[in-house]
Amino acid sequence: MFNKDFIFGVATASYQIEGSTNSDGRVKSVWDVFAEKKGKIADGSDGKIACDSYLKYRDDVKALAELGVTSYRFSVSWCRVIDENNKPNQKGIKYYQNLCRELLDFNIKPCVTLFHWDMPQWIEDKGGFLNDDIVDYFKFYTELVTTSLKGLVYDYITINEPQCILFMGHDACQFAPGTKYTDREMLRAIHNLLKCHGMAVKVIRKNVPNSTVGFAPCSRPAVPSDRDNELLERKCYEKYFECKFEEEYANKVSIYSDPVFLGDYPKSYYEEFKGYHPNITKEDLELISQPVDYIYQNYYSGNYYSLDSSNNLVMDKYYFGYPEGNIDWLQVVPETLYYGPKFLYERYKKPVIISENGFCNNDNISLDGGVHDPERIDYLRRYLLELDRVSKVADIRGYYVWSLFDNFEWSSGLRKRFGLIYIDYRNGNRIKKDSFYEYKNIIKNRGVKW
Ligand code: GAL
Repeated sequence: MFNKDFIFGVATASYQIEGSTNSDGRVKSVWDVFAEKKGKIADGSDGKIACDSYLKYRDDVKALAELGVTSYRFSVSWCRVIDENNKPNQKGIKYYQNLCRELLDFNIKPCVTLFHWDMPQWIEDKGGFLNDDIVDYFKFYTELVTTSLKGLVYDYITINEPQCILFMGHDACQFAPGTKYTDREMLRAIHNLLKCHGMAVKVIRKNVPNSTVGFAPCSRPAVPSDRDNELLERKCYEKYFECKFEEEYANKVSIYSDPVFLGDYPKSYYEEFKGYHPNITKEDLELISQPVDYIYQNYYSGNYYSLDSSNNLVMDKYYFGYPEGNIDWLQVVPETLYYGPKFLYERYKKPVIISENGFCNNDNISLDGGVHDPERIDYLRRYLLELDRVSKVADIRGYYVWSLFDNFEWSSGLRKRFGLIYIDYRNGNRIKKDSFYEYKNIIKNRGVKW
């Protein structure tokens, strides 16, 4: 069971839930523009209305209160609070102040993500993360948010999933903005993104005494298929943190997290990317490794590994009919929440918070009017039991379900549902799924009773 200070929360992100994309002076984000392009979003949907949370935030907060969460992780949209001349937009700021006040009225702590992918298009047009000025833009934005939300917000996450921003957005190109980087550009963008993070930490510390800060990468841990084999576990650890010039290197862990937590890129980075990586100064590394409070991490799935007869690590194949969600990368691997946090804690030695975890399913309204989602319930239970287990060997401080409600699942569109609350997109109606009540019970009991 988790102790009384353990954070139980849920997470969302601005573009995925807010809607009202043309209201109150909001400017276009890269996701508005991407969604307008034919064929980029699987079901042709976009975030124009989504969960309509910009207008219905009071209802959302009531649902959060009923659920019993102690923290709500949401993101501020850069596009709402700053205009195309890089000037503050008071109407946008007001929205987040109101939301925070509402949350605090119900004793729910706001946990603010500064950047959950909705980069203003006008900044992207100036080069986005390839433009060295991005650090100043992000600094200005962070100054604005932290001063505007003074006295309301004490928990900040700088950047959500750098891997998705850079790998999915600029290598696989399945996410906005969808422009392919060369390797040199990718490495420069990674470095600039990390500098944005460090700069934001500095600003938050200056403006918000007593704050907590972190950044929230994602990863897919290498999970030992045999819990009792120490050599296998060691090799999985090494695999998880390896930094190699190979496909999908921008999707890995240590290339982002080593500089943040350990003050430098892994040794192998300098060997592997020789001639490709940008000039990296001592000052840069100092900025990037500003002390943070937590290791946040988004976890959904992992890969099992075994040792072959020569003790080489080999990835297992999922058997036919393996349990999975209805999005292609979401295999049910509960030990993800054991080995992932264990490995992170071992390497970076800070308390861990799971900033996202959840399940995507074909949820429908049943004949009785309810939305029954036993697979999601089973997923949450299995994962939380593993988290409970690892909390005996690592310092685990919190857990956020992705997500409060179904929302705009990026290039998969509105069709893919991750919520504890169902959204009927025909009329905006919200229906609490069975998993909502299950999570409510889990929170009440401080864990899964099994
Ligand atoms: C994460 C992301 C969220 C959400 C979730 C489910 O990668 O941070 O915004 O979409 O995955 O796919």
